[in-house]
Amino acid sequence: MAQGDGNWWRDGIFYQIYPRSFQDSDGDGVGDLTGILRRLPYVKSLGVDAIWLSPIFPSPMADFGYDISDYTAIDPLFGTMADFDALLSVAHENGLKVILDLVPNHTSDQHPWFIESRSSRDNPKRDWYIWRDGKDDGSAPNNWVSEFGGSAWQFDEATGQYYYHAFLAQQPDLNWRNPQVREAIYDVMRFWLEKGVDGFRVDVIWHLIKDTEFRDNPPNPHYVEGRPPHERILTQYSTDQPDVHEVIAEMRRVTDAFHARVLIGEIYLPLHRLMAYYGNDLTGAQMPFNFALLSTFWSARAIEKIIEDYEKALPKGAWPNWVLGNHDRPRVASRVGSEQARVAAMLLLTLRGTPTLYYGDEIGMRQVTIAPEDLRDPFEKNVPGIGVGRDGCRTPMQWDSSPCAGFSGVKPWLPLPEIHVHENVVNLEADAFSILNLYKRLIAFRKQCPPLVAGTYHPIAAQGDLLIYRREYEGEAVTVALNLGAEPVALTTSTIGFGSKILVSTYLDREDERLESVLDLRGSEGVIVAPP
Ligand code: GLC
Ligand code: MG
Repeated sequence: MAQGDGNWWRDGIFYQIYPRSFQDSDGDGVGDLTGILRRLPYVKSLGVDAIWLSPIFPSPMADFGYDISDYTAIDPLFGTMADFDALLSVAHENGLKVILDLVPNHTSDQHPWFIESRSSRDNPKRDWYIWRDGKDDGSAPNNWVSEFGGSAWQFDEATGQYYYHAFLAQQPDLNWRNPQVREAIYDVMRFWLEKGVDGFRVDVIWHLIKDTEFRDNPPNPHYVEGRPPHERILTQYSTDQPDVHEVIAEMRRVTDAFHARVLIGEIYLPLHRLMAYYGNDLTGAQMPFNFALLSTFWSARAIEKIIEDYEKALPKGAWPNWVLGNHDRPRVASRVGSEQARVAAMLLLTLRGTPTLYYGDEIGMRQVTIAPEDLRDPFEKNVPGIGVGRDGCRTPMQWDSSPCAGFSGVKPWLPLPEIHVHENVVNLEADAFSILNLYKRLIAFRKQCPPLVAGTYHPIAAQGDLLIYRREYEGEAVTVALNLGAEPVALTTSTIGFGSKILVSTYLDREDERLESVLDLRGSEGVIVAPP
């Protein structure tokens, strides 16, 4: 992949780092920028092309950095601007792009903009946030609920009005219908783009614009008892409004004024709504995140259907992408099991479209059980006991078998599981057949295999536990066969070609094996096969 190529993000592989949990360098139990810098050789060794950093900006940390009080500085917890500049330049010297998290939907309630806004009804920044009178009886302006539980409206004594917050009360929503707000955030984007960052992952981008009339949201007729309370009400008027696409196109014009930058959108929406985020004539986000694999039922038919529906729904010319894990969802190794985590890796790295990896998934990190006294996530604290907690997927990277896993010299901000003594980078690097070496092998293989990087996708079969598809590029092809079950399966090579050859097995032990009439797959085995 040539440096400076404007389409690098199509060929590339992204790696999400949750900075609090990657590497602590100053002994406070929280990861930081110098820590990430120290671990860049590891990131580079994986073969990925870009790192995306979850927020590193000054924040009271009510939502661990997703509540920002200054968009153009670095939180001292993570280091200094000089540390960031050093990380950016070393990353670039090593051919790694750097993507920042842009959180434009809301600020911290400690942001100077909000402090001004709440100070009086006629403050010039009053309209930068969403202020409304209560109903005649004093209750909240409408029935909108916070994703983190309770009403989305917070009454503010000082000026006698409510402000809207889609998440915590400490995260007031900005008013994106106000042109000054837009310009202020576009300036923030330019600040980082001028420094040389390669793009943004835009937080909750589908939330930016709300209904002008603030109508009540309808109830959700499909609400499932036991699911988070905010799902009782649909978000018909509070998210995904048509005008949001105008804002995203503006953001895209900001990034497009710089060479070779990428705009990624965080969007949890049904497929047909998601596709709109590519924008009219692809003037929206280049990569509206595709989260379908985060919640799929793990069966061949279900996954084939997801791929098929997604491929069909893509607008002309739109580039696909796939995500297997992030800092908000349970670890893939816990969702599908440790054996299937290897199959999932092969799936992610052989599908058509840009893959995004979540730190630690490459070493098979599992959801860590969090004792009540160790709980940090405000979502879990507000909506306890139904399994929404996100701490378990945000635990420190397991680098080695030492007491703090090589992450820190002191007790880390979230606990380490005992299993880290075995499941850590040092041990897995030394084991030629480990999941870590599988990830490295798959990434390296993908890179030199044009059908995987740029080829078309052709479904072949989804029967029982078997998922088979072919990728093709200019007369070259590979076939991928995944056993999504624990039992061995055999298939005749009539579907994939007599005399073909195994290129990679998820067990890493069958390279170059020739296939005669039958392909025997062990339980939880996936293979990439070359035609005869
Ligand atoms: C996004 C982030 C999540 C955060 C929320 C509010 O969904 O990924 O971690 O809590 O936005 O900013
Ligand atoms: Mg630290």
